[in-house]
Amino acid sequence: MKEVLAELERRRSVARMGGGQERIDAQHKRGKLTARERIDIFLDEGSFEEFDMFVEHRSTDFGMEKTKVAGDGVVTGWGTVNGRTVFVFAKDFTVFGGSLSEAHAEKVQKVQDMALRNRAPVIGIYDAGGARIQEGVAALGGYAEIFQRNVLASGVIPQISVIMGPCAGGDVYSPAMTDFIFMVRDTSYMFVTGPDVVKTVTNETVTAEELGGATVHTVKSSIADGAYDNDVEALLQMRRLIDLLPTSNTAPIPEIEFHQPAEEPDFSLDRLVPDNANKPYDIKELILKICDEADFFEIQQSFAKNIVTGFGRVEGRTVGFVANQPLVLAGVLDSDASRKAARFVRFCDCFSIPIVTFVDVPGFLPGTAQEYGGLIKHGAKLLFAYAEATVPKITIITRKAFGGAYDVMASKHLRGDINYAWPSAQIAVMGAKGAVEIIFRKDIKDPEKIAAHTKMYEDRFLSPFVAAERGYVDEVIMPHSTRKRVARALRMLRNKNLDNPWKKHDNIPL
Ligand code: HXC
Repeated sequence: MKEVLAELERRRSVARMGGGQERIDAQHKRGKLTARERIDIFLDEGSFEEFDMFVEHRSTDFGMEKTKVAGDGVVTGWGTVNGRTVFVFAKDFTVFGGSLSEAHAEKVQKVQDMALRNRAPVIGIYDAGGARIQEGVAALGGYAEIFQRNVLASGVIPQISVIMGPCAGGDVYSPAMTDFIFMVRDTSYMFVTGPDVVKTVTNETVTAEELGGATVHTVKSSIADGAYDNDVEALLQMRRLIDLLPTSNTAPIPEIEFHQPAEEPDFSLDRLVPDNANKPYDIKELILKICDEADFFEIQQSFAKNIVTGFGRVEGRTVGFVANQPLVLAGVLDSDASRKAARFVRFCDCFSIPIVTFVDVPGFLPGTAQEYGGLIKHGAKLLFAYAEATVPKITIITRKAFGGAYDVMASKHLRGDINYAWPSAQIAVMGAKGAVEIIFRKDIKDPEKIAAHTKMYEDRFLSPFVAAERGYVDEVIMPHSTRKRVARALRMLRNKNLDNPWKKHDNIPL
């Protein structure tokens, strides 16, 4: 028995070395960790249970039968993050560049199946060269099996992808169907076809970083939801995110102890909105003051900064925040902001995370660039997302809520549960200048009359009271009591029970 045990230990040690010390060193030299090192940092210490450590590929083409490596380029299994179960797979770049064979794909599929069956999140760590070229269609089939599982698990368990090296070809579409993608700056990149193919097909000369680096995907394409400076930071941030998320669509919202009573007024909020309605202020100040311990996990921080999305906690329970950002483009809604927020709202709704919306929006962005780019369709995504969402929805209008954007931003009419306004709110079809120029066009050359009309319009419409008179706003609240109001509303809505009519699925404008 002693020898049998020793043989197991020997085989395990060989498998744990992946592609060997030289390749591990090369990985470290590039500032990257190995697949197992990454899993160790991500999971609670000692909690990792590995599956399929001895799986090898079955390929015999191109002399492959002589190149079998235990594990076949991916490390899979499960463990815990602060005590809660998660499933994980990490591509091992030291083995065939982490490329995907039929056997490698089956390992990933097993983890996906187990995660879904056991209703636990699945995290994929990518550092790979795409389809194992020597395996041909067997690799393509393997990818499609993974994609199919991504889709079935979507909205049932959280799926997160972390890109920590190359992610090309077939490897990009599985992350693209997960809930969140995070990248590591300077060492990771994602693209369907790499610089060489780009050069051949379009004659463009571009580096991997320019084509699909973390900056491209967090700032321009919005494929990635965030980027970090190195592997360790990225993995620790993933633990923080996992802590915020329910383990499935039927699991309760995670709840932790909190130490900051929501009842305490914050009088600085009474001074947040400037006297001049055209002056910007930072809506993140408000979000941080509503979150417990000012702890806010922002999603897509560098993309469409005119809207802010992310998770925090109120009284220890997770909340999704959506807020127009007056600091950027005056908080206007454009195509990018609408898409960004729509996806976030839908994620929250899938996993029963209540949504708190802060509104200060002058409307939708006018112009040919926006209209040609499909603003109607993209704006409709956000409208659709809020309208279909059945989770608790709490809306606070801090200043402007103009035009269609008033409707879209979780208004009462879209089944907002609690809709508050600050006294500084201005709820109207449009701002005073635009309105007066249209309805009093005949007086346009008479400054005195225009001034009188403007004053009349401002007095009547640029306040929360017309909406409050109709019950579109449940109450006009003191800014300093916002955290208390939000916390109490969330408590009241804990047992909210609202179903949409049965359907196979909806048809959100894509
Ligand atoms: C088999 C691969 C491989 C692959 C890398 N390797 N990619 N083996 N299939 N797809 C192997 C290399 O041969 C090498 O083995 C080792 O992994 C490390 O690769 P290097 O090229 O030395 O590393 P590096 O210089 O860092 O470049 C990494 C890379 C490059 C950019 C990822 O390897 C690369 O371009 N690979 C091919 C990418 C690709 O075109 N994939 C197929 C996409 S098509 P040795 O033994 O020499 O160390 C696809 C279609 C699926 O995925 C579509 C489904 C929807």
